[in-house]
Amino acid sequence: MKRTLDWNKYLEKAAETVAEGIVMLKNDNNALPLDTSKTVSVFGRIQLHYYKSGTGSGGMVNVSKVTGIVDGLVDAGVKINEKLFDIYRQWDEENPFDQGDGWGGEPWNQKEMPLDESVVEEAASLSDTAIVIIGRTAGEEQDARLEEGSYLLTSTELDMLKKVRKHFKKVVVLLNVGGLIDLEQILECSPDSLLYVWQGGMTGGTGTAAVLTGKVSPSGKLPDTIAYKISDYPSDKYFGDKNKAVYKEDIFVGYRWFETFAKDKVLYPFGFGLSYTTFDIELTDVKNTENETIISVIVTNTGKFKGKEVVQVYCEAPQGRLGKPQMVLCAFEKTRELAPFEAHSMEIRVKHNDLASYDDSDGKNCWILEKGKYIFHIGNSVRNCTLQCSYEIENDKIIEQCSQALAPHAEFDRIRAVSSANGVSYVMEKAPLSKINEEKCRLDNLPAEIAYTGDKGIKLADVKNGKYTMEEFVAQLSDHDLSCIIRGEGMGSPRVTAGTASAFGGVSDALVKFGVPAGCCSDGPSGMRLDCGTKAFSLPNGTLIASTFNRKLVEELFEFMGTEMIANKVDCLLGPGMNIHRHPLNGRNFEYFSEDPFLTGHMASAELNGLHKIGVTGTIKHFCANNQETNRHFLDSIVSERALREIYLKSFEIAVKVGKAKTIMTTYGSINGLWTAGSFDLNTTILRDEWGFKGFTMTDWWANVNFRGHEPKRNYYVPMARAQNDVYMVCSDSSCIDEDIEAALKDGTLTRAELQRNAMNILGFIIDTHAMKRIMGEEDTVEIINRSEGDDASDEPVVFYEIEDNFKLDLSGVKSEKGKNHSFALIISKQGWYDVTITASSTQSPLAQIPVTIFAMGTASGTLTWNGTDGKPVALNCEIPFFSRFTAIRLYFAQNGLDLHSIEFRLVREADDMDLAFAEDN
Ligand code: BGC
Repeated sequence: MKRTLDWNKYLEKAAETVAEGIVMLKNDNNALPLDTSKTVSVFGRIQLHYYKSGTGSGGMVNVSKVTGIVDGLVDAGVKINEKLFDIYRQWDEENPFDQGDGWGGEPWNQKEMPLDESVVEEAASLSDTAIVIIGRTAGEEQDARLEEGSYLLTSTELDMLKKVRKHFKKVVVLLNVGGLIDLEQILECSPDSLLYVWQGGMTGGTGTAAVLTGKVSPSGKLPDTIAYKISDYPSDKYFGDKNKAVYKEDIFVGYRWFETFAKDKVLYPFGFGLSYTTFDIELTDVKNTENETIISVIVTNTGKFKGKEVVQVYCEAPQGRLGKPQMVLCAFEKTRELAPFEAHSMEIRVKHNDLASYDDSDGKNCWILEKGKYIFHIGNSVRNCTLQCSYEIENDKIIEQCSQALAPHAEFDRIRAVSSANGVSYVMEKAPLSKINEEKCRLDNLPAEIAYTGDKGIKLADVKNGKYTMEEFVAQLSDHDLSCIIRGEGMGSPRVTAGTASAFGGVSDALVKFGVPAGCCSDGPSGMRLDCGTKAFSLPNGTLIASTFNRKLVEELFEFMGTEMIANKVDCLLGPGMNIHRHPLNGRNFEYFSEDPFLTGHMASAELNGLHKIGVTGTIKHFCANNQETNRHFLDSIVSERALREIYLKSFEIAVKVGKAKTIMTTYGSINGLWTAGSFDLNTTILRDEWGFKGFTMTDWWANVNFRGHEPKRNYYVPMARAQNDVYMVCSDSSCIDEDIEAALKDGTLTRAELQRNAMNILGFIIDTHAMKRIMGEEDTVEIINRSEGDDASDEPVVFYEIEDNFKLDLSGVKSEKGKNHSFALIISKQGWYDVTITASSTQSPLAQIPVTIFAMGTASGTLTWNGTDGKPVALNCEIPFFSRFTAIRLYFAQNGLDLHSIEFRLVREADDMDLAFAEDN
């Protein structure tokens, strides 16, 4: 099939998403939309460094151009105070943007330009309106902090706000941030307008300008509650500990806590967001059927601007025996764009099963609808619901009987809501403990072994074509083949697109001979991370996407993403990230959607639907409860089964059942004493037996795995495979023999049948990918139109070196610098396949990822990724064919933090005439 990817339409769709995801919290004094005939003064150095996303794997998309807010405004015809802009530009040159050092080392904020009062005064004489941009980033390995420059403003930022407020008639504050930051100090400076513009990807400034100029009315709604103080968040007391995160707040996360127990602590409620216009919502009909309540409304635009509104339905369930949050989001729909006075009728469906609570009390372990009245509150935020209808249940109704799974092993107290004279209050109670025997659950569920047949000549394509069954195919695989297929190869495996995170499936020559293609995984939630420097589209971040509350729009955006993936031969995007915003300081909140599992699950499903339409998929991650970056590899989350089921697993359950997720990534950390990568409860009992998941699961990169009660370690395939976490990510060579697996198969700790089951999960997925189509010669082609090529070559002069069989080049003094290249060229007398070894060292953390991509003749030929080496030299290698006498080599650095020592080329096999002729033809 021939496909076309129109880059302009892609940009337009992304900008539309940005405009719909911006949340306007305040707009007084007619500050917005801007009067486009007047000059605007823009303050804050971030005007020169728009944060398109956060950092780490969720933000390393190489782009040729980022349209920042000033670019967007200028493109939209807004006159900018150029003198002020030049002052910032000059200061920025003298005080360069601090890239930080290596993986996770980028500072979460940048030094701000101190403002001279006279500069502000002069700017105010030229313009009535000031825009002040405050920026923050965040990402992997460290959380944000309750400190100046992180959650709080720096004194220079505060000083800037105060001075600008003093001199300007209208002040608009824009927060270019991944997640929430403190608003108390900002509001004390009384800006007229305040907007979370989030991180909007490479075209963020265009979408932001569309809102500022009034081309689009803001329609984004808060995916998180904004409390007055960070200490008001229910998880605050339990967040940040290095060893244990005890989830005492239980199911009372975000607005579930505030609306039930702490209404007065809320500054801006969940679901809140202003528009330039106003809307009236009228309830026209309610139908209660056995499984759902269908609510009909008419939304009318009652103001002077066009705009969209989000109708939100919250359920107030009877407190019953279990105790419930006062309000729980159970449905939402966004209108189309309505002109002034235009009306729109909508039907909103509430599925009754979505209202169930999980009873984790002794021996119950079921989803239940407790008897009583379920009141539906309808409105445009959790606090502004003026309409009501209800549904009555006469007797308790068990929706689904489950088995106890993932329950705590250590005692702790959790909150439970109880009815009281003044409404609802809470008590502390002991969370029910695990009573199951995990090993027995595994043994009771052991699959039957398929007898080994040896190679019968059956290829995977024969299974696809219906000639043989998958069982017949898998019967041919030896124990060693099975031990290879459960190990993904990477990062930067040459089996797949250069610079990507991993290859899976056809990761050994034997598997390739059986016709198993190598599937390709690439980070991440905001677009493809191609560490060789290849440019890709950078999308708005997860929090912005959630704020759109617009499933259709997000689905359309991800259809573009899917097509771009095919063009780059990528089968699985390593995203969406869909952990719950349990606490505002989690470093990766920017990748994730919301504090609410229903919104999270449905937005993730919208992304998956878009990708699935194109035949690629997204890997939902991190399964589950990855809610803190501090010590993420060793943190044990102690959580009740109820909180897991209703909050932290719920979003994934929706993505599996509604979004039909096909691939899942587990976490680095542990839940109730067992690292998720080796948890049978999580990967088998819940995911497959209860939810019916049919795809394959992978670990996070170099994740720890353990047996209960034992220390976790990396590359520990046995507990992983037994739990049915199918693939370990990642190994540098998946085809080598693993002694642990061999020993476990011998002594029965692991069965061949379990490996066959994992293999079938992987193969069942890969058989329906574009990777499979490619090896069957049925590849889709993608023509990209309207894309201007970014120049990513180095300007440095290239030195040529002559190479015989072996050649070693001293690289001492060369340091990896993010986004930069080191280039030279080779004169090769013997063409053929060379082993290329780079030796380098790093003082970064042992899990830092510092990739170096080797470009040969402009083609990315291999990516080698170092972790921290304790400062000691570590050699990594790959094989590269050099068929040309003159070969330019370019080393591209995607991160700082690596000291290079040398690069060595060793001839492995000389090319014969046929090889060279073939190379010339191609
Ligand atoms: C992150 C994952 C990511 C992986 C591959 C890990 O550090 O936690 O989300 O997909 O790296 O880059």
